[in-house]
Amino acid sequence: MDEKMRIIKTRKSVRTFDRRKITPNDKEKLLNYIKTIENPYNIPVEFIFLDRERDNLSSPVIEGEDTYIAAKVPRVKHCEEAYGYSFEKMILYAWSLGIGTTWIGGTLNRPLFEKAANTNDDEYMMIVTPIGYPSKTQSQVDKKLRESVHGDERFPPSKLFYDNDFETPLDSTEDCLDAVRWAPSAANRQPWRIVKKNNDYHFYLQHTPGYSSGVGWDVQKIDLGIAICHFLYVKEGKFIIDEPEIESDEYTEYIATISCER
Ligand SMILES: Cc1cc2nc3c(=O)[nH]c(=O)nc-3n(C[C@H](O)[C@H](O)[C@H](O)COP(=O)(O)O)c2cc1C
Repeated sequence: MDEKMRIIKTRKSVRTFDRRKITPNDKEKLLNYIKTIENPYNIPVEFIFLDRERDNLSSPVIEGEDTYIAAKVPRVKHCEEAYGYSFEKMILYAWSLGIGTTWIGGTLNRPLFEKAANTNDDEYMMIVTPIGYPSKTQSQVDKKLRESVHGDERFPPSKLFYDNDFETPLDSTEDCLDAVRWAPSAANRQPWRIVKKNNDYHFYLQHTPGYSSGVGWDVQKIDLGIAICHFLYVKEGKFIIDEPEIESDEYTEYIATISCER
């Protein structure tokens, strides 16, 4: 398997760490990589390494972590997708170094983390991740959480991908689609849908009815940014926002298109 697909398919949310500190070498690599991260929306996403001990940071679902990384974004249109894209780039790189992470948007003391990250009124600090080296065994909380969200499972391709219109499922094994399928998403709801038309991949968000994070942004748009990140991680394409004429239902919102060479 190609190295990038290996990273995508072996990454999992790591919630139990072995208490080791991140080595200075790994930390330097991660910091250097973060400086290079861009997203197709050109919206700046600022990463902040937090001081776990000084600010007394923890999450009820995380054990044995070294520390946390947070990120902030200006409150502008498409900030969620930009955030999802950039944060996931960092996560994939961390995993390539053997550093475990978990997207945490719910199971945290939000005011405490926002303060630790010096969040201003014109910014959102949507997500944090613990970082550390994965433990060989999982805590009970970790096991139960993975089971409850079916963390090791994904919907079949035919439920996520479509050919020309939403009437025709696409049972494809293309790497770029498989990479999207194995993306992480809030509560593993997998709200991404893709309609492939010629060589254009149109990304849609199928909103989960009644699901809202209640914090001022749409958490499922972060999921779409992650999906776009996974796609472009394994396949080159031109990112555009130009809604095609494809009929969709009231829950399904067009997000962006990746246009690929034949
Ligand atoms: C935007 C977002 C928010 C998330 N928030 C949390 C959270 O608050 N707590 C948690 O334990 N996991 C959280 N997760 C992790 C998901 O539950 C996880 O990605 C999903 O169950 C799939 O499992 P996997 O990452 O191991 O593939 C979040 C994921 C995303 C993308």
